[in-house]
Amino acid sequence: MADLTVDLGFRTLKNPVITASGTFGYGEEFLPFFDLDILGAIIMKGIFREPRPGNPPPRLVETPAGVLNSIGLAGPGSEKLQEIIRRLHTRTNTPIIVNVCGEDDREFAEVAAVFSAMDEVAMLELNISCPNIKKGGACPAQDADHTARLVRQVKKVVGKPLIVKLSPNTADIVEVAQAAQDAGADALSLVNTFLGLAVDLEKRKPVFANVYAGLSGPAVKPLALRLVREVCRRSYVPVIGMGGISSGRDVLDYILVGAAAVQIGTVNFYEPGAAVRIIGEIETEMDKLQIKNLSEIRGKLQT
Ligand code: SIN
Repeated sequence: MADLTVDLGFRTLKNPVITASGTFGYGEEFLPFFDLDILGAIIMKGIFREPRPGNPPPRLVETPAGVLNSIGLAGPGSEKLQEIIRRLHTRTNTPIIVNVCGEDDREFAEVAAVFSAMDEVAMLELNISCPNIKKGGACPAQDADHTARLVRQVKKVVGKPLIVKLSPNTADIVEVAQAAQDAGADALSLVNTFLGLAVDLEKRKPVFANVYAGLSGPAVKPLALRLVREVCRRSYVPVIGMGGISSGRDVLDYILVGAAAVQIGTVNFYEPGAAVRIIGEIETEMDKLQIKNLSEIRGKLQT
């Protein structure tokens, strides 16, 4: 039987499959579908200090092999999320990761400190890469200096491992990744969604109020896989890869280019039980390819 465990250095996961922020609600919504204990980890939808209504509709538009989203990080605020996490923790032993957001650097640090103090929270993911908050998709992860400053500030106030979630919408993601790890990130996760545009031909207007939106789903996998490889070649902290994963083979592709673990996202929207199938497929593929454990192939792409 293949060994699916993953050693992140600061934590061992039972397998590499983590449900991505914003695609798995707050975990509770998926309890009717499967036992959450099967997952490597669960990431909560991004959270600010205060409740947020998010962007006006429409917020989701299907594209061939993908979806554009402009949710605008809607959420119940940090107090309510603490309650939800306490409840969820009584239903699963799977590590819970909080996706931390902020209107400015100070709020990022404040929210991170609140959740770092919770025993029920295993790790934090700093969401510096949402393209749907400011018009044009601007976010801290587009700038290496801002990323470094912010990560340093957050690291000062947290005692839990800090994953920094990077954006593909930047000139040089490797530079930003290096800035994040040099500033103290314990791991990197990439990539968030790709900036895209949908237009309404009849109205001669953009479909989304924010004009641009974030593209995810199978369509982005080759783009994301390349960026994950580029970052893995230069990084000394574990990389959690994501973008268009919908099968066990997709997971192994990410491991082959150097990812330590992966996040599955859009697939949760159209197949709520996808994680169970994908974890099963990883085992089957590994047995077929006679791979005993994931470190045997991690980063072993031959070029
Ligand atoms: C959103 O809520 O708009 C998407 C979240 C993200 O891309 O980080």
